[in-house]
Amino acid sequence: MKFIQKVILVSVVFAGIFIAAKKPDDSKMKIFIDALMKKMTLDEKIGQLNLPGSGDIVTGQAGNTDIAKKIREGKVGGLFNIKSIAKIKEVQKLAVEESRLKIPLLFGMDVIHGYETVFPIPLGLSCSWDMQLIENTARIAAIEASADGINWTFSPMVDIARDPRWGRIAEGSGEDAYLGSQIAKAMVQGYQGKDLSLNNTIMACVKHFALYGAAEAGRDYNTTDMSRYRMYNEYFPPYKAAVDAGAGSVMASFNDVDGIPATANKWLMTTVLRNQWGFKGFVVTDYTGIKELTEHGLGDLKTVAAKAMIAGVDMDMVDEGFLFTMKQSIKEGKVTVQMIDAACRRILEAKYKLGLFDDPYRYCNEQRAKTEIFTPAHRKVARETATQSFVLLKNDPFPPTGGAGVGLLPLKKSGTIAVIGPMADNKENMPGTWAVAARFNDAISVMQGLKETVGNQVKILHARGSNLDADSLFEERAGMFGKSLRRDNRPAEVIMQEAVDIANQSDVIVAVLGESAEMSGECSSRSNIEIPKVQQELLKALLKTGKPVVLVLFTGRPLALKWENDHVPAILNVWFGGSEAGYAIADVLFGDVNPSGKLSTTWPQNIGQVPLYYNHKNTGRPLAEGKWFEKFKTNYLDVTNDPVYPFGFGLSYTSYSYSDIKLSNTSLKGNQTLTASVTVTNTGKTDGKEVVQLYIRDLVGSVSRPVKELKGFQKIELKAGETKTVKFSITVNDLKFYNYDLKYDWEPGEFSIMIGGNSRDVKSGKVNWLK
Ligand code: BGC
Repeated sequence: MKFIQKVILVSVVFAGIFIAAKKPDDSKMKIFIDALMKKMTLDEKIGQLNLPGSGDIVTGQAGNTDIAKKIREGKVGGLFNIKSIAKIKEVQKLAVEESRLKIPLLFGMDVIHGYETVFPIPLGLSCSWDMQLIENTARIAAIEASADGINWTFSPMVDIARDPRWGRIAEGSGEDAYLGSQIAKAMVQGYQGKDLSLNNTIMACVKHFALYGAAEAGRDYNTTDMSRYRMYNEYFPPYKAAVDAGAGSVMASFNDVDGIPATANKWLMTTVLRNQWGFKGFVVTDYTGIKELTEHGLGDLKTVAAKAMIAGVDMDMVDEGFLFTMKQSIKEGKVTVQMIDAACRRILEAKYKLGLFDDPYRYCNEQRAKTEIFTPAHRKVARETATQSFVLLKNDPFPPTGGAGVGLLPLKKSGTIAVIGPMADNKENMPGTWAVAARFNDAISVMQGLKETVGNQVKILHARGSNLDADSLFEERAGMFGKSLRRDNRPAEVIMQEAVDIANQSDVIVAVLGESAEMSGECSSRSNIEIPKVQQELLKALLKTGKPVVLVLFTGRPLALKWENDHVPAILNVWFGGSEAGYAIADVLFGDVNPSGKLSTTWPQNIGQVPLYYNHKNTGRPLAEGKWFEKFKTNYLDVTNDPVYPFGFGLSYTSYSYSDIKLSNTSLKGNQTLTASVTVTNTGKTDGKEVVQLYIRDLVGSVSRPVKELKGFQKIELKAGETKTVKFSITVNDLKFYNYDLKYDWEPGEFSIMIGGNSRDVKSGKVNWLK
């Protein structure tokens, strides 16, 4: 043997030993699963790929259901959205005591932003820009869910969304790939922890792969079609970040990607996900994703189930398409036994990693269920988190010429406040969309939060002022899943007059307006993204009283808020803050917490500007900054190009000033590190937190590049009067992008380096960076 061959052989052997020593469980797992799979019939293997809808399992009755029969026959791999240990234990018992091979079931749930303790909707959470906090919320969600029998969550949802019409924008982290990637990673870490087999960690499922957030016209489930350049640079990064962070599973999206629905898209599920990104977990369809392929026009159930299997899907949610057609497809030579084996192995591996083969009841501990769910400690974190998600959109002095520049907020803890609006005295809507396990009756409404926090010092009056919407049918659609808005059937003028009367008795009006929880979320798209008209009229009537008005805005999406921004002195956007929303709103309104949230989406002036996002391209005919209209430039006749609030924007009860940017070097080469810094000063009288944001523009490239891209951020605390220097270390990794050939690399040339408190107001410098 030649020397070189010997060297390779020896190093391969050593590498093998090293890998084996580093991951002893993987080899143990392989031995265990090999042995198990040898015993499995083809039917049992196909059974593992089945995730049926469980229906409403009643405690004590699970054994009699149709599902029970299938479980006994080894035809079920897991179930989802069953709540309570008692039910889960009962069903797990069927699998591990009454099925032939006693393979435990996975129990999944949409634990999206908390379990019983509900945190702000993900879009709100993303506005905290606080990765530790976000990770903690996922950690707590995992602790609570796992204490109640759940071992798998259908989260994080990381779909980039630039279209506020799309209701599911509420479930993600906004429009930016960099911020979205950081959050994806934090969420996966929070759910899965360091060891998936612990009884308080659960498996993550990153969804919806891919591009679901780009649904055309914001209509849910709609087609997406975009260049691969855009996919790789602007939409894929958060999915990849979740995969890199070790997410155990991936959910296929409903939409077309490049002409082929994701569920049947082999390029997506195998070439990108497995071959390019090295994903080792399993892929589950979305709810009825396989059957829907028939609606997409891809063939009958047998054909489409085979297509999904060939594409690389491992588990079939709800349809039982795999269960009923795979054997036939194998017989016909369309699907191979090896494909079934590979899918089955991946699901068994997930069960192994979760520790279910060691103890199928690992996640069913009554003691934990009693002591670790909806605890005061968790609720405290929910309250703090909600305060961090709120975004102060406007805070002018009132009257406009008075107050020595001091904003209307925070409110004084004295006098009389009129709290008005259809969302002011409602608990059920506080948790927001996708809160399967929420305790709606224990959620804290705005009224309750204010009363309990300042009720001794402040006289609080309340009137509804209007319904959510004039149209009762719309209101019904927007109040689904038990989130009643208790419609007031008196004439609109009467409801409004009652509110104006109490407003006239107050010192300040807090108008609690906007969307209900189910006006965003799945299948809650809107073609009009304004506050419903009846509420706008109420707001106008309240402003007419001449009293100071604070708009406390509930929403699950960016709204077109131009009129409100022009006329209302103070606007605090509170999204849907979760279980403790009411307390958190009181904390911020009265200044016990200084708001520091920054938008993770751009807020347009009107729906016609959509999609409007900060990291757009320049075009060949860009409009000069500060201009409205110039003929033959990229603009509109009837509206400027500006948003009402840019990405990264959010005010504080204090103010910050930014120094000019300082660059350690303006001409760099190769692997050097550039340090970019600014000093930030808290120029007001209140301590606060500020999210300092770094943007980069690649000024010359082989393809056109965005006008700026977020590349870093730091959330700092500054006492009143304090100054801090904030430094960013920039390397060529921060300059990389996927080029036209989808090669991930950086190109030499000039770069703008920008730092600021939002994407619009930045201090900038330039560097030349050569290879
Ligand atoms: C949604 C998913 C969810 C699934 C299971 C689907 O309709 O698109 O996000 O995880 O249902 O509840």
